[in-house]
Amino acid sequence: MHGADPRLVLGLHRSRHHRDILTAALDLGVTALDTAAPYLGFRSHTVLSETAADLLPKFTLSTKVGFFPRAGGAEHSLDPVRLRLAVERAARELGREPDTVLLHNPERSLAGLSTADGHTLLGNACTALADAARDGLCRAWGVTSWDTRTLSMVQVDDLPSPDVLMVRAGFLVGIDLLDATTVLSTAWQPDETWGMSPFRGGHRKVWEEFDPRPFLRPHHGDLSRIQAAFRTAFHLPSTSAMAVGTNDPGHLAQLVQALGAEVDTAAVSQYLRALHSEPGDQGLWCSGGSFRGS
Ligand SMILES: NC(=O)c1ccc[n+]([C@@H]2O[C@H](COP(=O)([O-])OP(=O)(O)OC[C@H]3O[C@@H](n4cnc5c(N)ncnc54)[C@H](OP(=O)(O)O)[C@@H]3O)[C@@H](O)[C@H]2O)c1
Repeated sequence: MHGADPRLVLGLHRSRHHRDILTAALDLGVTALDTAAPYLGFRSHTVLSETAADLLPKFTLSTKVGFFPRAGGAEHSLDPVRLRLAVERAARELGREPDTVLLHNPERSLAGLSTADGHTLLGNACTALADAARDGLCRAWGVTSWDTRTLSMVQVDDLPSPDVLMVRAGFLVGIDLLDATTVLSTAWQPDETWGMSPFRGGHRKVWEEFDPRPFLRPHHGDLSRIQAAFRTAFHLPSTSAMAVGTNDPGHLAQLVQALGAEVDTAAVSQYLRALHSEPGDQGLWCSGGSFRGS
Protein backbone atom coordinates (compact mmCIF):
# COMPACT_ATOMS: atom_id res chain seq x y z
CA MET A 1 0.00 0.00 0.00
CA HIS A 2 1.20 3.52 -0.73
CA GLY A 3 2.32 5.22 2.44
CA ALA A 4 3.97 2.10 3.89
CA ASP A 5 7.33 3.67 3.07
CA PRO A 6 6.54 7.37 2.55
CA ARG A 7 9.31 9.50 1.06
CA LEU A 8 9.93 13.18 1.64
CA VAL A 9 11.14 15.22 -1.33
CA LEU A 10 12.54 18.62 -0.40
CA GLY A 11 10.90 21.07 -2.79
CA LEU A 12 12.80 24.20 -3.73
CA HIS A 13 9.97 26.36 -5.08
CA ARG A 14 10.16 28.81 -2.15
CA SER A 15 13.68 27.91 -1.11
CA ARG A 16 16.44 30.45 -0.59
CA HIS A 17 18.72 27.75 -1.99
CA HIS A 18 21.06 28.01 1.00
CA ARG A 19 23.46 25.17 1.66
CA ASP A 20 22.34 24.73 5.26
CA ILE A 21 18.93 23.29 4.36
CA LEU A 22 20.57 20.86 1.94
CA THR A 23 23.10 19.65 4.52
CA ALA A 24 20.33 19.44 7.13
CA ALA A 25 18.30 17.34 4.70
CA LEU A 26 21.17 14.91 4.20
CA ASP A 27 21.74 14.71 7.95
CA LEU A 28 18.06 13.81 8.37
CA GLY A 29 18.20 11.17 5.66
CA VAL A 30 16.27 13.24 3.11
CA THR A 31 17.93 12.45 -0.19
CA ALA A 32 15.44 13.74 -2.77
CA LEU A 33 15.29 17.28 -4.13
CA ASP A 34 12.70 18.76 -6.44
CA THR A 35 13.32 21.94 -8.38
CA ALA A 36 12.26 23.46 -11.71
CA ALA A 37 13.81 25.55 -14.44
CA PRO A 38 11.85 28.71 -13.43
CA TYR A 39 12.49 28.52 -9.67
CA LEU A 40 14.57 31.27 -8.12
CA GLY A 41 13.97 33.48 -11.13
CA PHE A 42 15.24 30.80 -13.56
CA ARG A 43 18.49 30.53 -11.56
CA SER A 44 17.74 27.45 -9.43
CA HIS A 45 19.84 25.04 -11.49
CA THR A 46 22.88 27.28 -11.72
CA VAL A 47 22.73 28.36 -8.07
CA LEU A 48 22.52 24.72 -6.99
CA SER A 49 25.56 23.79 -9.03
CA GLU A 50 27.49 26.87 -7.86
CA THR A 51 26.75 26.50 -4.15
CA ALA A 52 26.24 22.77 -3.69
CA ALA A 53 28.04 20.89 -6.47
CA ASP A 54 29.54 18.56 -3.86
CA LEU A 55 26.12 17.82 -2.33
CA LEU A 56 24.10 17.26 -5.50
CA PRO A 57 25.44 13.76 -6.21
CA LYS A 58 24.08 12.70 -2.81
CA PHE A 59 20.51 13.53 -3.85
CA THR A 60 18.12 12.13 -6.39
CA LEU A 61 17.05 15.20 -8.27
CA SER A 62 13.87 16.02 -10.13
CA THR A 63 13.32 19.15 -12.16
CA LYS A 64 10.64 20.48 -14.46
CA VAL A 65 10.47 22.01 -17.91
CA GLY A 66 7.65 23.85 -19.64
CA PHE A 67 8.10 27.45 -18.47
CA PHE A 68 10.51 29.66 -20.39
CA PRO A 69 11.83 33.12 -19.58
CA ARG A 70 10.52 36.05 -21.54
CA ALA A 71 10.84 39.78 -21.01
CA GLY A 72 9.18 40.64 -17.72
CA GLY A 73 8.21 37.10 -16.75
CA ALA A 74 7.67 33.59 -18.02
CA GLU A 75 5.71 31.88 -20.75
CA HIS A 76 4.51 28.33 -20.98
CA SER A 77 5.14 26.10 -23.96
CA LEU A 78 4.67 22.45 -24.89
CA ASP A 79 6.73 22.79 -28.06
CA PRO A 80 8.72 19.51 -28.17
CA VAL A 81 11.83 21.20 -29.56
CA ARG A 82 11.89 23.77 -26.76
CA LEU A 83 11.26 21.04 -24.19
CA ARG A 84 14.15 18.94 -25.48
CA LEU A 85 16.48 21.94 -25.39
CA ALA A 86 15.28 22.72 -21.87
CA VAL A 87 16.13 19.20 -20.68
CA GLU A 88 19.60 19.48 -22.21
CA ARG A 89 20.03 22.90 -20.63
CA ALA A 90 18.97 21.61 -17.20
CA ALA A 91 21.69 18.96 -17.28
CA ARG A 92 24.27 21.54 -18.37
CA GLU A 93 23.27 24.02 -15.67
CA LEU A 94 23.11 21.41 -12.92
CA GLY A 95 26.40 19.84 -13.94
CA ARG A 96 24.71 16.43 -13.96
CA GLU A 97 21.69 14.76 -15.51
CA PRO A 98 18.57 15.09 -13.37
CA ASP A 99 17.08 11.77 -12.27
CA THR A 100 13.58 12.79 -13.26
CA VAL A 101 12.32 15.50 -15.58
CA LEU A 102 8.69 16.51 -15.23
CA LEU A 103 6.51 18.35 -17.69
CA HIS A 104 5.59 21.44 -15.71
CA ASN A 105 1.86 22.23 -15.46
CA PRO A 106 0.96 21.26 -19.05
CA GLU A 107 -2.62 22.37 -18.38
CA ARG A 108 -1.37 25.94 -18.78
CA SER A 109 -1.01 25.35 -22.54
CA LEU A 110 -4.08 23.15 -22.90
CA ALA A 111 -6.77 25.44 -21.53
CA GLY A 112 -9.13 26.54 -24.27
CA LEU A 113 -8.00 23.95 -26.82
CA SER A 114 -10.30 21.32 -28.30
CA THR A 115 -9.93 17.84 -26.82
CA ALA A 116 -8.29 16.64 -30.05
CA ASP A 117 -5.79 19.52 -30.20
CA GLY A 118 -5.00 19.10 -26.50
CA HIS A 119 -4.43 15.40 -27.01
CA THR A 120 -1.97 16.03 -29.87
CA LEU A 121 -0.10 18.81 -28.05
CA LEU A 122 0.20 16.87 -24.80
CA GLY A 123 1.14 13.68 -26.65
CA ASN A 124 3.98 15.38 -28.52
CA ALA A 125 5.28 16.94 -25.30
CA CYS A 126 5.18 13.60 -23.48
CA THR A 127 6.98 11.93 -26.36
CA ALA A 128 9.71 14.61 -26.19
CA LEU A 129 10.31 13.83 -22.50
CA ALA A 130 10.07 10.06 -23.00
CA ASP A 131 12.67 10.40 -25.79
CA ALA A 132 14.92 12.47 -23.53
CA ALA A 133 14.79 9.67 -20.92
CA ARG A 134 15.42 7.04 -23.59
CA ASP A 135 18.45 9.05 -24.80
CA GLY A 136 19.92 9.14 -21.29
CA LEU A 137 19.29 12.83 -20.55
CA CYS A 138 17.40 11.74 -17.43
CA ARG A 139 16.54 8.42 -15.82
CA ALA A 140 12.79 8.92 -15.71
CA TRP A 141 10.20 11.39 -16.94
CA GLY A 142 6.84 12.51 -15.70
CA VAL A 143 4.16 15.14 -15.51
CA THR A 144 3.37 17.57 -12.72
CA SER A 145 0.04 19.35 -12.64
CA TRP A 146 -1.21 22.04 -10.29
CA ASP A 147 -4.73 21.62 -11.65
CA THR A 148 -5.54 18.15 -12.93
CA ARG A 149 -9.07 19.14 -13.95
CA THR A 150 -8.00 20.27 -17.43
CA LEU A 151 -5.68 17.30 -17.91
CA SER A 152 -8.34 14.81 -16.89
CA MET A 153 -10.45 16.03 -19.80
CA VAL A 154 -7.76 15.06 -22.34
CA GLN A 155 -7.83 11.42 -23.39
CA VAL A 156 -4.48 10.25 -22.05
CA ASP A 157 -4.83 6.47 -22.08
CA ASP A 158 -3.10 6.15 -25.48
CA LEU A 159 -0.33 8.67 -24.66
CA PRO A 160 3.05 7.60 -23.25
CA SER A 161 2.50 6.65 -19.63
CA PRO A 162 4.64 8.77 -17.28
CA ASP A 163 7.02 7.25 -14.78
CA VAL A 164 5.87 9.90 -12.29
CA LEU A 165 2.68 11.91 -11.91
CA MET A 166 3.03 14.74 -9.39
CA VAL A 167 -0.18 16.30 -8.09
CA ARG A 168 -1.45 18.54 -5.31
CA ALA A 169 -2.07 16.70 -2.07
CA GLY A 170 -3.51 17.14 1.37
CA PHE A 171 -6.41 18.70 3.23
CA LEU A 172 -6.23 21.93 1.28
CA VAL A 173 -7.18 20.22 -1.97
CA GLY A 174 -10.85 20.28 -2.95
CA ILE A 175 -12.83 17.16 -3.78
CA ASP A 176 -13.23 18.22 -7.41
CA LEU A 177 -9.45 18.22 -7.85
CA LEU A 178 -9.00 14.96 -5.95
CA ASP A 179 -11.62 13.35 -8.19
CA ALA A 180 -9.96 14.74 -11.34
CA THR A 181 -6.64 13.32 -10.16
CA THR A 182 -8.23 9.89 -9.67
CA VAL A 183 -9.67 10.00 -13.20
CA LEU A 184 -6.30 11.06 -14.62
CA SER A 185 -4.20 8.47 -12.82
CA THR A 186 -6.66 5.67 -13.54
CA ALA A 187 -6.47 6.49 -17.26
CA TRP A 188 -2.72 7.17 -17.39
CA GLN A 189 -1.39 4.54 -14.98
CA PRO A 190 1.85 6.28 -13.91
CA ASP A 191 4.45 4.07 -12.25
CA GLU A 192 4.48 6.40 -9.23
CA THR A 193 2.31 9.22 -7.92
CA TRP A 194 3.98 11.99 -5.92
CA GLY A 195 2.13 14.60 -3.92
CA MET A 196 3.14 18.23 -3.61
CA SER A 197 2.45 21.39 -1.65
CA PRO A 198 0.67 19.79 1.36
CA PHE A 199 0.46 23.21 3.09
CA ARG A 200 -0.32 25.08 -0.11
CA GLY A 201 2.76 27.18 0.45
CA GLY A 202 1.89 28.37 3.96
CA HIS A 203 -1.54 28.99 5.47
CA ARG A 204 -0.51 28.05 9.00
CA LYS A 205 -3.65 29.59 10.51
CA VAL A 206 -5.78 26.79 9.04
CA TRP A 207 -4.19 24.35 11.48
CA GLU A 208 -5.19 26.51 14.44
CA GLU A 209 -8.80 25.95 13.42
CA PHE A 210 -8.57 22.37 12.21
CA ASP A 211 -6.91 19.49 14.05
CA PRO A 212 -5.93 16.66 11.69
CA ARG A 213 -4.47 14.48 14.46
CA PRO A 214 -7.56 12.20 14.58
CA PHE A 215 -6.41 10.99 11.15
CA LEU A 216 -3.38 9.35 12.76
CA ARG A 217 -3.44 6.13 14.74
CA PRO A 218 -3.81 7.02 18.44
CA HIS A 219 -0.29 6.22 19.59
CA HIS A 220 1.00 9.17 17.54
CA GLY A 221 -0.74 11.71 19.76
CA ASP A 222 2.48 13.58 20.48
CA LEU A 223 2.76 14.89 16.92
CA SER A 224 1.66 18.42 16.06
CA ARG A 225 -1.27 19.39 13.85
CA ILE A 226 1.13 20.35 11.05
CA GLN A 227 2.89 17.00 11.29
CA ALA A 228 -0.46 15.21 11.15
CA ALA A 229 -1.52 17.29 8.13
CA PHE A 230 1.74 16.42 6.37
CA ARG A 231 1.52 12.69 7.09
CA THR A 232 -2.14 12.43 6.12
CA ALA A 233 -1.46 14.24 2.83
CA PHE A 234 0.14 11.02 1.56
CA HIS A 235 -3.41 9.61 1.44
CA LEU A 236 -5.12 12.60 -0.20
CA PRO A 237 -4.62 11.23 -2.84
CA SER A 238 -2.56 8.08 -2.29
CA THR A 239 1.08 8.93 -3.01
CA SER A 240 4.46 7.37 -2.40
CA ALA A 241 6.41 10.65 -2.09
CA MET A 242 5.61 14.23 -1.08
CA ALA A 243 7.37 17.39 -2.26
CA VAL A 244 7.27 19.86 0.60
CA GLY A 245 9.14 23.13 1.03
CA THR A 246 10.92 24.58 4.02
CA ASN A 247 13.87 26.86 4.72
CA ASP A 248 13.94 25.75 8.36
CA PRO A 249 15.95 22.65 9.36
CA GLY A 250 13.83 22.32 12.53
CA HIS A 251 10.65 22.19 10.44
CA LEU A 252 12.24 19.61 8.17
CA ALA A 253 13.10 17.46 11.18
CA GLN A 254 9.44 17.62 12.28
CA LEU A 255 8.29 16.48 8.86
CA VAL A 256 10.78 13.61 8.85
CA GLN A 257 9.55 12.55 12.27
CA ALA A 258 5.96 12.56 11.00
CA LEU A 259 6.84 10.03 8.29
CA GLY A 260 6.93 7.36 11.00
CA ALA A 261 3.29 7.88 11.96
CA GLU A 262 0.52 5.66 10.73
CA VAL A 263 -2.58 7.10 9.07
CA ASP A 264 -6.08 5.90 9.91
CA THR A 265 -7.24 5.20 6.38
CA ALA A 266 -10.82 4.62 7.54
CA ALA A 267 -10.88 8.21 8.81
CA VAL A 268 -9.53 9.38 5.46
CA SER A 269 -12.28 7.48 3.64
CA GLN A 270 -14.86 9.04 5.93
CA TYR A 271 -13.43 12.50 5.21
CA LEU A 272 -13.69 11.88 1.45
CA ARG A 273 -17.27 10.66 1.81
CA ALA A 274 -18.10 13.80 3.77
CA LEU A 275 -16.66 16.00 1.01
CA HIS A 276 -18.61 14.09 -1.64
CA SER A 277 -21.83 14.44 0.28
CA GLU A 278 -21.63 18.23 0.27
CA PRO A 279 -22.06 19.37 -3.33
CA GLY A 280 -20.00 22.46 -4.06
CA ASP A 281 -17.76 21.89 -1.07
CA GLN A 282 -14.18 22.70 -1.96
CA GLY A 283 -12.61 20.65 0.81
CA LEU A 284 -11.24 21.77 4.12
CA TRP A 285 -9.85 24.86 2.44
CA CYS A 286 -13.34 26.31 1.93
CA SER A 287 -15.31 24.41 4.54
CA GLY A 288 -14.02 26.41 7.47
CA GLY A 289 -12.16 23.46 8.95
CA SER A 290 -15.30 22.12 10.55
CA PHE A 291 -14.58 18.47 9.81
CA ARG A 292 -13.26 16.69 12.85
CA GLY A 293 -12.42 13.23 11.53
CA SER A 294 -13.85 10.10 13.05
N1 LIG B 1 3.13 22.55 -10.34
C1 LIG B 1 4.16 22.19 -9.70
O1 LIG B 1 4.93 21.45 -10.22
C2 LIG B 1 4.37 22.59 -8.28
C3 LIG B 1 3.65 23.62 -7.71
C4 LIG B 1 3.83 23.91 -6.36
C5 LIG B 1 4.73 23.16 -5.63
N2 LIG B 1 5.45 22.16 -6.23
C6 LIG B 1 6.43 21.36 -5.49
O2 LIG B 1 6.00 21.18 -4.16
C7 LIG B 1 6.97 21.78 -3.29
C8 LIG B 1 6.30 22.32 -2.07
O3 LIG B 1 5.37 23.31 -2.43
P1 LIG B 1 5.20 24.70 -1.70
O4 LIG B 1 6.49 25.17 -1.14
O5 LIG B 1 4.46 25.54 -2.61
O6 LIG B 1 4.20 24.37 -0.54
P2 LIG B 1 4.26 23.58 0.85
O7 LIG B 1 5.34 22.59 0.89
O8 LIG B 1 2.86 23.14 1.03
O9 LIG B 1 4.51 24.74 1.90
C9 LIG B 1 5.74 25.27 2.21
C10 LIG B 1 5.53 26.13 3.42
O10 LIG B 1 5.24 25.30 4.54
C11 LIG B 1 6.02 25.75 5.65
N3 LIG B 1 6.39 24.56 6.45
C12 LIG B 1 6.98 23.43 6.04
N4 LIG B 1 7.18 22.60 7.08
C13 LIG B 1 6.69 23.22 8.17
C14 LIG B 1 6.62 22.88 9.55
N5 LIG B 1 7.09 21.71 10.00
N6 LIG B 1 6.07 23.77 10.40
C15 LIG B 1 5.59 24.95 9.95
N7 LIG B 1 5.63 25.34 8.66
C16 LIG B 1 6.19 24.48 7.77
C17 LIG B 1 7.24 26.38 5.07
O11 LIG B 1 7.69 27.43 5.91
P3 LIG B 1 9.18 27.38 6.56
O12 LIG B 1 10.14 27.66 5.47
O13 LIG B 1 9.12 28.44 7.61
O14 LIG B 1 9.32 25.99 7.14
C18 LIG B 1 6.73 26.95 3.75
O15 LIG B 1 6.29 28.29 3.93
C19 LIG B 1 7.66 22.83 -4.16
O16 LIG B 1 8.90 23.22 -3.66
C20 LIG B 1 7.77 22.07 -5.43
O17 LIG B 1 8.79 21.12 -5.34
C21 LIG B 1 5.27 21.87 -7.53
